[in-house]
Amino acid sequence: MSYTSTRENRTPAERLGEIGGSSRFVRACLRQPVDRTPVWFLRQAGRYMPEYMTVRQHHSLLDICRTPDIAAEVTITAAERLDVDAAIIFADLLLPFTPMGVDFEFLAGEGPVVHKPIRTLDQVVALRTDRVDELSYVARAIEKVAVHFSSPRPPEGPNGNPDQLGIIGFCGAPFTLASYMIEGGSSRNYIETKRLMYASGTPSRFGLTTEPGALSSRGLIAKVEYKGCGIEPEGSTISTTSSPDSKAWPLLMEKLVTVLTGYAQQQVEAGADVIQIFDSWAGALSVTDYTEFCLAPTTELVRRIQAMGVPVIYFGVDTASLLPTMRKTGADVIGLDWRVPLDTGWRSLGCTCAVQGNLDPITLFAPSEVLKSRVDEILRSAAGRSGHIFNLGHGIVPGTPVENVIDVVRWVKEFKLS
Ligand code: CP3
Repeated sequence: MSYTSTRENRTPAERLGEIGGSSRFVRACLRQPVDRTPVWFLRQAGRYMPEYMTVRQHHSLLDICRTPDIAAEVTITAAERLDVDAAIIFADLLLPFTPMGVDFEFLAGEGPVVHKPIRTLDQVVALRTDRVDELSYVARAIEKVAVHFSSPRPPEGPNGNPDQLGIIGFCGAPFTLASYMIEGGSSRNYIETKRLMYASGTPSRFGLTTEPGALSSRGLIAKVEYKGCGIEPEGSTISTTSSPDSKAWPLLMEKLVTVLTGYAQQQVEAGADVIQIFDSWAGALSVTDYTEFCLAPTTELVRRIQAMGVPVIYFGVDTASLLPTMRKTGADVIGLDWRVPLDTGWRSLGCTCAVQGNLDPITLFAPSEVLKSRVDEILRSAAGRSGHIFNLGHGIVPGTPVENVIDVVRWVKEFKLS
């Protein structure tokens, strides 16, 4: 597959050198020094923005995602209106379900609905992993965004540098995507998801093998291998259990990692500078369950995307207690939600990676002086260390005043540590 982007055909090293060099957002992802803290927002293109609502009057959410011209326009409009340092491609977490053979739709007021939730081994076996090419409309939208933002922006002041706006591609994490597939939509308790996870038994049924060479400087590398799933490695440590569904969770994880790798590859080839992995609902897991059932496939996905030559941002909500374990994925940047003070969260990651966050999105409804004090608090607690990207702790919600979002961008740009 080939894409004609101005940013393609670079080796991984060239990508990091070139792009990290000229984009303060990518430099911060790599913990390189920057002239000021970069800023962008989760869900920066969405229903709070009148420009987006105008487009939505004529097109469904899925039409926007699947039409590269419109997806690119929505992406670009939001980034330019807010004057942020990165543009996240307009798409949705659930798009890979379609080529996998899982039908879903977005119902007004209800969010995503999967009509036949995946609950058995037979259903997991039937999931397709060979049609990732059908998602190439997202890559085509990224190409258009990359062409639009191909020229550097002028320096912001006498001490500033010219800046290349960062382009963010994204995908869901295996756990969060599996939760939508299994529950059939959003969930409060994740009962069916955890039931399938637990059916795979303990100790972990992932063949988390640490063969010679499987540990790298990036940290743990999980080799995901499954008994009875067509991949039966010699010397596998996986035990058999009585339930036929014991194989369902590991096979689902493997299939998701395969599809998400191909999908991320298309986005990187099209010009994405960074890939964000959304594990929005990881906070529903105990540290033990996350470690047993989700760490290995997520680590494998992170490792495969990094091998494409781009940094990875790994984001979840309500993750304060999971942060040290999420760090083991080797992601370059960890997204923090607002419940943990930024410096506490960063410390619990060992200060060995970059962090993104972490303003409460609902603070955007507060009076100016309250909002500004919260923005300043976050910037002060980052204390000028390399590797902070200002963002929210979760996505902008409908009804958020756009002017307040723009004010935050200005304050981040003007901030000086005193
Ligand atoms: O600028 C951007 O960030 C927008 C692009 C974007 C969308 N979805 C478009 C969208 C992104 C990054 C996503 C990711 C996504 N999708 C996540 C992870 C992010 C997070 O918030 O944790 C999740 C969990 C989904 C699944 C999803 N899509 C849900 C649960 C919903 C309904 C939620 C709601 O607010 O109604 C969606 C719909 C959706 N995806 C909207 C947008 C702009 C809003 C609905 C619309 O425009 O009709």
